[in-house]
Formats: sequence, C-alpha cells, structure tokens
Amino acid sequence: MKKQSLIIDCDPGVDDAVGLFLAFGSPELDLLAVTAVGGNVPVSRTGRNARILRQIAGREDVPVFLGADRPLVREPAGAGEFHGAEGLGDLPPFEPPFPATPGHAAEAIVDIVMGRPEGSVALAMMGPLTNLALALRREPRLAARLGPVSVMGGARSEGGNITASAEFNIWADPDAAAEVFASDLSLTVFGLDATHQVRATDARIARIEAIDTPQAQAAASMMRFSQRVEREIVGWDAPPVHDPVTVAWFLKPDLFEVRTCRIEVETASDLTRGHTAVEFRGVDPATARHHWAVTADADGLFDLLAERVA
Ligand code: RIB
Ligand code: CA
Repeated sequence: MKKQSLIIDCDPGVDDAVGLFLAFGSPELDLLAVTAVGGNVPVSRTGRNARILRQIAGREDVPVFLGADRPLVREPAGAGEFHGAEGLGDLPPFEPPFPATPGHAAEAIVDIVMGRPEGSVALAMMGPLTNLALALRREPRLAARLGPVSVMGGARSEGGNITASAEFNIWADPDAAAEVFASDLSLTVFGLDATHQVRATDARIARIEAIDTPQAQAAASMMRFSQRVEREIVGWDAPPVHDPVTVAWFLKPDLFEVRTCRIEVETASDLTRGHTAVEFRGVDPATARHHWAVTADADGLFDLLAERVA
C-alpha cells in the first residue's frame, strides 16, 4: 500500500486528540511529525498534550515539535472552557518521558516538506493557522512543494462558535488565516458547516467506550467530557467532534462532499473578525484553489474511528 506522508498541526484539545488517535491507528498514513500550536490552551500544554497522546497510542516514533505560542498579531485567547484547563478534558495530565524534538514547528514543516519529493507531504491543520503562516513566510516555495492540505476552520451557513460570525481556529489568528488562504496553497476546508454534522452522540461514544485499548478509552473519556460541557454551556447533548475530519479526508474522502470556492478572511473588523467569506459564485472550477466541505458522513467517520482505535 502506498502510504500518504502527513504532518498534523494541532492544539490538543479534546477533538484534536480524537483526530490524532485516528491518525496514529491508520496504516495508510506515514505520520512524519505532529506540530503543536497555541490555541485551545497555550503551546506549553498543547505540546505536552501531543506527547501524552502519542504515548497513550504507543506512537513515540512520531516526533512532536512546539510552534507558535501566540498569534501573528492578536493577543492569545484560548477555549479552555471546552477542553479543560489542561486541554485534555479531565484526563489527568502527566509529563511524558519522551521530549519534544528541538526546533520550531514552522521550521520543521519547511525542512520536512522541502526535503521530500514535490507534492508528497500532506498537511492536516487542526488549530489556528499560525505555524503554517510562519512556515510560508520562512519558505515562499513551500506552497508549491506541499501536497494536499486539509484545514478545520471557518463557518458559512452555520454561523460562528466563538463569536456570532467566526469559528475559533480562524478567529484566534485571523491574520495567519488570511495569509494562508491568500497563498498559492490549495486547501480543503472543513468548517462548522461540515463538523456540526459530526456529533458525539451517546451511542457513538458508547461504541468507542466498549473498545478495550488505551486510546479508545482516552478518546471516549474526552468525548464524555465534551458532552458534559456542551450540555452545560450550549445546551446541546451531542458535541461536534471537529478535528478528526481533517484526517478522515485522507483515509476516506467519499465521507465528504466538497465544493470549489473562494475564501477570504475578515481581519479589519472587530465585530466580524475571523469571518470566512466562502464564495461559490463566479468560481471557475479550473482555477479555484479551495474546496469547502458541505456534508460529512458522521456514521462513516465513527466507523473509521472505531476501527482505528481498536
Ligand atoms: O472551532 C473548533 C476548533 O476550535 C477545533 O479545532 C477545536 O479543537 C478548537 O481548536
Ligand atoms: Ca483544534
């Protein structure tokens, strides 16, 4: 089987964790690195959390690099209320024995991608886009060299989840997102329009809970945490599990329907900061660079997850 080389950039984060476990258990992927960014919680915690998760999954072979501890311009703002102060729900944090690999995440992305054949390394973005923006600034040839890039971020029909008009990953660092979307990269973007269709219902969580592996138990515990928080804060009882879509797309793309589009990000207005203007009109499929996910098959994604955390 030809493996897909992949770097995952993330801010674990309970749903990032589920996405990482999906990747750690998928033999189709050659996971070259996990890079951490400040987002849900500061990068000191997202980096440690990535190391905790790779240990739980028995994947200490995958290097973890620490990246940006703050957005390009804006002040750092987390989402601890949805992920717990430590970032992994109520999973007890610990300091894993295996350290992060020295060097900034942006540098690691550049070195790995530029050191391999053109188009061979893919990227899954699960948090604010700061590291990718920094990597593009560091190496302008990166966009042409990268393979497929999936991004969890933005919202169109669903409205925002951090403000009325913006989704957290884009809102947290709108300037980085604006640079990434305006670059020559071709992005497949999974906004809330798609990820709000992927919900951790009781039945789906119970299915993962019934699997007796450390990663399944950890994933289920974190989704239970999300369920409790969602009930308290939002009143829903089935929290969206956003980030695994960025990995599932590489494993089973037919789980999703995507449409060609133009995407621009609001950076000038405080009121609508981080809004993603996703335009389908007047887009020439021959030249359109971005795709926007409009549907996601939640049952199919949980089938995949159950299989890969087993
Ligand atoms: O809006 C959802 C996104 O913000 C997810 O990536 C979640 O982990 C948070 O970072
Ligand atoms: Ca995330």
